Amino acid sequence: MSPVQPRPPAPGPPADPLSGRTGRRVGGPSTSARTAVVWEVLSAVLAEADATGEGLDVVDAGGGSGGFAVPLARAGHRVVVVDPSPDALAALQRRASEGELAGRVTGVQGDLADLPELVAPGAVDLLLCHSVLEVVDDPAEALAAAAGVLRPGRGRLSLLVANRAAAVLARALAGHPDEAARALTDPAGRWGTADGVRRRFDAEHLRELVAAAGLTVEQVHGVRVVADLVPGAVLDAEPGAAAALLALERALSERPPFRDVATQLHVLAQRR
Ligand SMILES: C[S@@+](CC[C@H](N)C(=O)[O-])C[C@H]1O[C@@H](n2cnc3c(N)ncnc32)[C@H](O)[C@@H]1O
Repeated sequence: MSPVQPRPPAPGPPADPLSGRTGRRVGGPSTSARTAVVWEVLSAVLAEADATGEGLDVVDAGGGSGGFAVPLARAGHRVVVVDPSPDALAALQRRASEGELAGRVTGVQGDLADLPELVAPGAVDLLLCHSVLEVVDDPAEALAAAAGVLRPGRGRLSLLVANRAAAVLARALAGHPDEAARALTDPAGRWGTADGVRRRFDAEHLRELVAAAGLTVEQVHGVRVVADLVPGAVLDAEPGAAAALLALERALSERPPFRDVATQLHVLAQRR
């Protein structure tokens, strides 16, 4: 199935709060410190790739209830969400209908590894794969298969995964040095059997996976470098603290060593 669908009228052109560009907005005023860096990277890429303003073909693999898909559709792009969960897809359709975006967002039941059967090869401008590589059976195989849907020489992958280093530090700070040590050496980056995350990644391993899938890494950012460390009550109590945290999060996201200990790693890559 091709992700290309008839294009409904484009929405109005509010200024992009993240990129500062005038044009269709992605993300939005409610963008939090937990997602701001990803939206910022995506806003810049979309603005550059969609120079004509006709909208891009986007696939969100494991897109769930549309946290990214719905704002992208609202910005005028044609979005297909591929997700195995019928409940998530039902919630997606509800959100899309409520936003009068039903013609621009399509939900398809399936796995990341199924993309070659669900989406035409080489037809996609942007493939999102956020918080999904952690749960698939074979990340290398699934990513390589999925990369084939991207337009050769142009299509971009936005990949977001859990970072091993953050789990090591978090377990140590929580008073569990034995679990921190396990997360450090465990092949899947897990700290124990009670760990709710099936797999975490190291930045180097992630780069290798992306390269092996036929993609060139363009940018690597840390996501939630400090956002998870500051209690919400502190932000609520101090005027201006939330905005300051957002600014700090952005500043730290591309700077080692801060980037390298973020809760998640975000890779932007282009198909060769
Ligand atoms: C943690 S949620 C992330 C949702 C969304 N990508 C986001 O970042 O907000 C993980 C999603 O991946 C989906 N999922 C689980 N296994 C998958 C697979 N093998 N292929 C694709 N998606 C999968 C789940 O149904 C769920 O919607």
